Amino acid sequence: MTTILDSYSEKDTEAIAEDLARKSAPSDVFALVGDLGVGKTAFAKGFARGLDIDEPIVSPTFTIVQIYEGGKMPLYHFDVYRLGDESEMDEIGYEDCFYGEGVSLVEWADTVRSVMPQKTVWITVEKDLTRGTDYRRITIDNDEDYRD
Ligand SMILES: Nc1ncnc2c1ncn2[C@@H]1O[C@H](COP(=O)(O)OP(=O)(O)O)[C@@H](O)[C@H]1O
Ligand SMILES: [Mg+2]
Repeated sequence: MTTILDSYSEKDTEAIAEDLARKSAPSDVFALVGDLGVGKTAFAKGFARGLDIDEPIVSPTFTIVQIYEGGKMPLYHFDVYRLGDESEMDEIGYEDCFYGEGVSLVEWADTVRSVMPQKTVWITVEKDLTRGTDYRRITIDNDEDYRD
């Protein structure tokens, strides 16, 4: 199923992400796809709020994965932009996250497509300058058996 949502501000994007996080369950995997500066980390901030995480979300670009445990379940926040090779995902122990007690959110997941499970919910964030500089189209593609 595909859902298209309109965001007109960073706050809108955070609210969309927050709502999605509230409906999420352990071992859910969310892939975030979109150009640099489009709002993937902004999405992650709202998502963390939806899990009742109070800690500030920092971009895990250099650490690849950042784990937040203070909420109702752990958040595994990946940013795989600087990953040299998909095989490095094994070293990071991604499987413990994707099939673990928490929810995974993976920025730049399209660059490690081969390790992303079937169950992944793909979220694409895109600009459309004809609708304003702050407009973002957020497209959510769920696996058919994903809960509504
Ligand atoms: N509708 C919007 N949704 C998300 N971010 C927006 C929006 N409009 C403007 N922005 C700005 O775009 C930037 C997104 O940055 P960031 O989330 O770090 O992007 P990414 O992680 O995709 O590289 C922020 O400066 C944010 O304020
Ligand atoms: Mg980012």
